[in-house]
Amino acid sequence: MDMDELKKKISECTKCRLHEDRDKTVPGEGPLDADIMLIGEGPGADEDAQGKPFVGSAGKKLNECLEGAGLKRKDVFITNTVRCRPPKNRDPRKDELDACDPYTQKMIELVNPKVIGLLGRIPTLQLTGQGTVGKARGKQITVKGMTYIPTFHPAALIYDSSRREVLINDLRSMKEYVEMEKKSRQTVL
Ligand code: URA
Repeated sequence: MDMDELKKKISECTKCRLHEDRDKTVPGEGPLDADIMLIGEGPGADEDAQGKPFVGSAGKKLNECLEGAGLKRKDVFITNTVRCRPPKNRDPRKDELDACDPYTQKMIELVNPKVIGLLGRIPTLQLTGQGTVGKARGKQITVKGMTYIPTFHPAALIYDSSRREVLINDLRSMKEYVEMEKKSRQTVL
């Protein structure tokens, strides 16, 4: 299955109750050869209306932090743990996360990034099993050969601006991880 087929499958998905209230599915977007993938929580109202991830106020914060870290949004693949908006932006439930997880896994397989940044508690728990972002953030966690770096969710900056520098630093360490990986590969060759 290629990315277009996967996105089509997601657009027709009725595996969990979140499909009932959605306007658009938000599969994710970015280059298929991205070195960095970011996984957020789930779509909000703006994302549900546009079918694109992180286009509302949290997206604005994310864009600022990517820029602060010397990254271009267009170079990063961005998706979420659930791809339909939870009612009233509540946290996605375990069965909803599990229903969407095969799509996340397929996206990871298709893009095969060098590192995955996990934005907040929900993707951190879902992808690494670590329950506390405060403890896990900034660390490299390897699960089944993939390296994850958890960090804060950009919406957390709306209420607590001191987290901004932390998020920028974590994004920068993802960039540095990719650069280091590429260098070590060159040395091996
Ligand atoms: N918050 C998320 O976690 N994902 C989005 O796409 C938008 C806001």
